Amino acid sequence: MPAPAFLLPSHPLDPRRVDPQFAWEARLLRDLGGEHHLVDHDALLAGDAHPAVRGVPAGRGPFWYRGWMLPSHRYAEFAAALAERGGQLLTSPPGYASAHELPGWYEVFEGATPQSVWLPAAGTEPFGGARLAAAVARLGGRGPAIVKDYVKSRKHEWDEACFIPELADLPAVERVVARFVELQAEHLAGGVVLRRFEEFTRVGWETRAAPSGDGPDGASGGGPGADRDTDRSAARGAARHAGDGRRRAVEARVWWLDGEPVLVGPHPDLPGCPAAPDLSVVRPLVRALGCRFVTTDLAERADGSGWRVVEVGDGQVSELPRGIDPSGLLIALLAA
Ligand SMILES: Nc1ncnc2c1ncn2[C@@H]1O[C@H](COP(=O)(O)OP(=O)(O)O)[C@@H](O)[C@H]1O
Ligand SMILES: [Mg+2]
Repeated sequence: MPAPAFLLPSHPLDPRRVDPQFAWEARLLRDLGGEHHLVDHDALLAGDAHPAVRGVPAGRGPFWYRGWMLPSHRYAEFAAALAERGGQLLTSPPGYASAHELPGWYEVFEGATPQSVWLPAAGTEPFGGARLAAAVARLGGRGPAIVKDYVKSRKHEWDEACFIPELADLPAVERVVARFVELQAEHLAGGVVLRRFEEFTRVGWETRAAPSGDGPDGASGGGPGADRDTDRSAARGAARHAGDGRRRAVEARVWWLDGEPVLVGPHPDLPGCPAAPDLSVVRPLVRALGCRFVTTDLAERADGSGWRVVEVGDGQVSELPRGIDPSGLLIALLAA
């Protein structure tokens, strides 16, 4: 089988150029002797998969996609359009969905990730009332929690649309969930997820994170250690977190290929904060998930009692943090 080629998103205004966000990956791939072709992400999102893959040579593949997130059903259309041209994505549509959406990976990671419940979107049925109360009860009915959809949170609107200080306060739960749903609007992926809040080691990230759009070497921020918070009290931590959503958990993003961790780096939101996670619990779980190329975001419990899986992602659509060298990852993908 030939070495996999990469499919990268084209520039929104110039289909012959790579999207600026992925230009450095394209350059690196070229330097490593890899091949890439461009796909039109806007067309994929709009449901126009055939024109989106027009620039991909027929009969070529297999392919890794590296690009912006796609809803699972759009990824399936993408795979089908490539298949019609004799091309194959190395991650199947069911594999993509199971790494990309929380309900797809939760069962495998249960116990190693914060306890979670979800409510699938059902037409125009609201996420409040008895349905939400039952979900809250399934989550234990009290304590702090966070809300997100099957894929993303609105962590930047922490107080308003992410953090639930107390599940027992049902009107407040309804308010945060309703605001989350309102802000996600047509981008709501799958449904609403409620997760028990856990206390992780955190840092005041506005002083550390590089603004997005920095070049590969643009990571700012100090080293680990300073300004770290290891407060052990979940209640006190939750209260402070509610008042200061810009204090972010220090996460490590681990990139797995065929069950092996091929790259361990910081989370893209905190590129200046490297972490060295213990992978012993996570490794067999990643293998059990059975997807070839995934990421896991890991955070350390504030009391130092171990590492937790904050989220799992499909490696094709996980953001690479600036300031690290992903050559080893790309070489492994080219050899997969
Ligand atoms: N269960 C939780 N307990 C504590 N903090 C959490 C929890 N879930 C998420 N967070 C915090 O919220 C952030 C965003 O949540 P995450 O699930 O990673 O969503 P996103 O896909 O938007 O990154 C995380 O980086 C972490 O800081
Ligand atoms: Mg995250």
